[in-house]
Parts: sequence; C-alpha cells; structure tokens
Amino acid sequence: MSTFKILVTSQKGGVGKSTVSANLAAYLRRQGQSVTLVDFDTHGSSSTWLNRAPNIGIVVQHHILPLDQGGNRPILDARLHLRRAASSSDVVICDLTWTDSIAGELMFEYDLVIVPTSVSEIELAATAGFLSRHRWVFDSAIHTPPTLLVCPTRVHNEQMQSDTFTKQRFPVSFMLSPPVLEAQSAREMFERGYLMDLPDECGTSFIEFGKAVCTAREMRASAQGMRQTTASTRINALNGVRSTHQSNTLNAPPKNLLARTSTLSNQYSVLGRHRLHKVGESAPSTDTATQTNTVARPTTPSAQPATEETNSISSMGIPQFLKRMSMGILSK
Ligand SMILES: Nc1ncnc2c1ncn2[C@@H]1O[C@H](COP(=O)(O)OP(=O)(O)OP(=O)(O)O)[C@@H](O)[C@H]1O
Ligand SMILES: [Mg+2]
Repeated sequence: MSTFKILVTSQKGGVGKSTVSANLAAYLRRQGQSVTLVDFDTHGSSSTWLNRAPNIGIVVQHHILPLDQGGNRPILDARLHLRRAASSSDVVICDLTWTDSIAGELMFEYDLVIVPTSVSEIELAATAGFLSRHRWVFDSAIHTPPTLLVCPTRVHNEQMQSDTFTKQRFPVSFMLSPPVLEAQSAREMFERGYLMDLPDECGTSFIEFGKAVCTAREMRASAQGMRQTTASTRINALNGVRSTHQSNTLNAPPKNLLARTSTLSNQYSVLGRHRLHKVGESAPSTDTATQTNTVARPTTPSAQPATEETNSISSMGIPQFLKRMSMGILSK
C-alpha cells in the first residue's frame, strides 16, 4: 500500500488538532504502521507531546511554514516536507492550523483531511465556513479530492443526549467519525501517554475514532482499486484484449463490495455507509469524484418530516447525527 497522507486541520484554534494528531499517530503506530508526524504549527504541541511521551517509535518532525511570505512558498515548503516524510513511512500525519495565506491546492497532496470541530454552534459555524470556502477541493472533478472526515472533538456527554439541532449546514459531502469525548484525563495525558490507553470513556472514544480512520483508508483504497480496474478494463476493451497480465497486476475490487463496506461502515462512518451503498449500486463505473458529489440519503426513519430536503445527510445538523449515533439507530 502506498503511504497514507493525513492532514489534521481547521482554522479554529483550540479544537483539538494537536491532540488528535499526536494520538492518532500513536494509535496507528500501535497498529504496526511506520508513522511520521509532521508538526507545521508554531506552538509545536503535537511534536512536543510525542517527543516527551514514552517512545513508541514515531518519527517526529517540526517545521514552521513561512506563512508571512505568502505566495507559493508555504505550500512548496509543506509539499517538500510531506513528500520527504512519505518516502520512509506507511503513514504521515500533518498537524496544521489553516490560514487564508495557505493555498487550498495543498489539500490535494493528502488522502484524508480530518477536520476536528467541537459541536458548539459557534464552532460548527466556523467549520461550515471553512468547508464552504474549500468546497472546490472536495468536489473537484479534475484532481482526486482528499476524503473529508469531520471529527467531533471535546464532546461532552450532555451534548450526546441533546435534542437541540444546529442551524449549521455543511456544504460538502463528508464522513463523520465517532466523537472524541471531553475529559480531564485527556488534558492530563499531555506529554505523558496516549489517549487510547485511558481506562475511561474518553479512551474508548479515541479508539473508536482511530478505527474510523482505518476504515476511511480502506474505503478509499477500495474505491481507488475499483477505479483503476475500470480504467484497465476500458483499455483492454479498446485494445481488444481479454483479461491480461495488466489487469491482474492492478488491485482487484473486493468480490462483494457492498457486503464488505456495509460491515465496515456499520461500525463507524454514518455518511460513509450511504456513500458506499451508492457506490455499490452503481459499481463499477463510479469514481471518487462522483462519490464525493453523491447526495446521501439516510435509510433509517428520520425524526424530522420525511421530505427530500430534511432527509439529505448534508442538510442535517451535527448534534442530530450525534444523537442518532448515541441511540445506535444508524449503527444497526
Ligand atoms: N478530548 C479532550 N478532552 C479534554 N481536553 C481536550 C481534549 N482534546 C483537547 N483538549 C484540550 O483542549 C486544548 C486544545 O487542544 P489542542 O492543543 O489539541 O487543540 P489545537 O486545535 O491543536 O489548538 P491550537 O489551535 O492552539 O493549535 C488543550 O488544552 C487540550 O488539552
Ligand atoms: Mg495545535
């Protein structure tokens, strides 16, 4: 498998980017992956965390991007560091506070963009604004867009139970990870250890989040394998060649994609399940771009009137998602 490149970013400060970056690096390292964390933040929180916590073999780098120089410099620097790191690791995770001086093209370098957000109305508004400004990246039909994973962070237990629906609407299709819960124990883990080792709900929630990231990776690989095989089949058809060595060397799509992805996504991504149902239905001609554009429809009864508009996942508020997830409706 080629190096999996993850960007953890948001324009808002204090949402948990560094906590997620450092601990996701640790989670994936424990899964047996070689991992490099590239900390692009001035504060250096995620790199400091990993440098001071017990060494589990993560390569840690801290590079400050020349954001004040504007133009292409910051993204050229970021690309260089990312590509160097990718040459020697299975996974690279970059921790970056996004600013308007960074060109959105940088996101095309990544396979997965994780946007941590708390579920307060003010932070959801900031997240929706950020995603709206970069809609062209996630909806791109020219480049392969990164998979977008929205990660609710610092979520309080009472928010999981809340009935209040947010007014925010997310402008792009995205996958939603299980929430990482807020806990004093998480704050105390800074520089000492890893969230996944916490013997409480916060620790469990982080493990679920880590699994969701692995699932997002598998789903992307499946979609790409399917795209490549389709392209190869087309080439072979054009050349009048039947199944040849060329198509055998490409990743074959899973035998039963629908069954396989239902199992995977049952455990995690709410939106991913609906997207993959679509892929399954229209396989094998669906490509990544059309998946991203797919308007997903929930297959379970909605608490709201069953109109087209209210049933579209992208028109739902995040707390509504959380409520459904916590009730286990969508995970059945
Ligand atoms: N799950 C959690 N539970 C409790 N506190 C948390 C959790 N995640 C992060 N925090 C705390 O929230 C604060 C901000 O977290 P963090 O530094 O990871 O966010 P950030 O988005 O990287 O911030 P910055 O924009 O300053 O780089 C820290 O004090 C951290 O300890
Ligand atoms: Mg940070």
